[in-house]
Amino acid sequence: MQLQQNISLKPYNTFGIDETAEYFIALHNTSDLEELTAFNKEKHILGGGSNILLTRAIQGLVVLNQLKGIQIEKENAEHVWLKVNAGEVWHDFVMHAVSNGWAGIENLALIPGTVGAAPIQNIGAYGIDAKETIESVEGWHWLDKTFIRFSNDECKFGYRDSIFKHGLKDKVFVTSVTFRLNKRAAYHTGYGAVEQELERMGVQELSIQAIAQAVIHIRNSKLPDPKQIGNAGSFFKNPTIPIVQFEALKKAYADVPSYPAADGMIKVPAGWLVEQCGWKGYRKGDAGVHAKQALVLVNYSDATGSDVWNLSEEILHSVNNKFGIELEREVQLW
Ligand code: EPU
Repeated sequence: MQLQQNISLKPYNTFGIDETAEYFIALHNTSDLEELTAFNKEKHILGGGSNILLTRAIQGLVVLNQLKGIQIEKENAEHVWLKVNAGEVWHDFVMHAVSNGWAGIENLALIPGTVGAAPIQNIGAYGIDAKETIESVEGWHWLDKTFIRFSNDECKFGYRDSIFKHGLKDKVFVTSVTFRLNKRAAYHTGYGAVEQELERMGVQELSIQAIAQAVIHIRNSKLPDPKQIGNAGSFFKNPTIPIVQFEALKKAYADVPSYPAADGMIKVPAGWLVEQCGWKGYRKGDAGVHAKQALVLVNYSDATGSDVWNLSEEILHSVNNKFGIELEREVQLW
């Protein structure tokens, strides 16, 4: 095993923030986990680095998950179970599934990051959450020094949430995720602009290939490519508010978009709230708010994590002042 010291994490986070790691290793084999466990430093796990904001030099060991490989576990007439190693690039896995005709994750095309990160924040888009296809999550427990398997239930999935963000935060190194995909597709086109885009593309017969393409077009048109402008996708979660509060909001803003949420609550897009406060397209130094989607904060070049963090604080305050709604960050602070 080759540990590196004091290296820049800039290439390893999609925000492109230049902070260092005291120790760093790219992990390719699970057989190295035991030896790594004995290295007595705090461990931070990095997948695609697409949902983190670095605001300081990282003390301890950063482990880049590079475990690769996709294996068919079993299949029947209806389903195929795939065990996918955590370091696989999420979008490549989606396209692999789509090209084999395995349905269930086509709406999640082009989400940045790795397969191992998918269960941690239960990634989702266009009406589908990763939890709907996750059968189990396998990982290495740093303290118990054993491999452990979590059933879908045990992962305690929520909206952009799971046990790996709470009780098991930094305690488990996800090694693989087992998905159950469908051989017969059930299409989900009702959310957002998917239907419109399929129509624009002139799609006559629906397929998972067409849906993946539609999603790719929509995402490319609204979300900045991290290779060109640093970002971590949605910076905030969409808040849910009580129906009375929503009705008052709708009186003042007739065109407020909304989705029904659990327990009679209403989900309001954070992007809309941030835009209403005048932030869309705002730039201060190299930190800014994306001009096509106000939910996405960006690093134009040399912003520090604190520049982005301070901007997010200003946005939180202004949304709270104007609407009495407290936004929550989706991005993890490092
Ligand atoms: N909107 C605005 N102004 C904006 C942005 C959005 O008015 O600047 C309005 C839109 O017009 C639309 C509504 O808000 O009526 C929803 O916008 P959009 O469909 O773009 O989705 P979102 O709610 O902003 C969520 C996810 C995205 C996911 C999309 C599509 C969260 C926090 N974000 O965004 O996920 O791609 O839906 O399903 O749930 C991510 O998590 O990193 C991410 C990109």
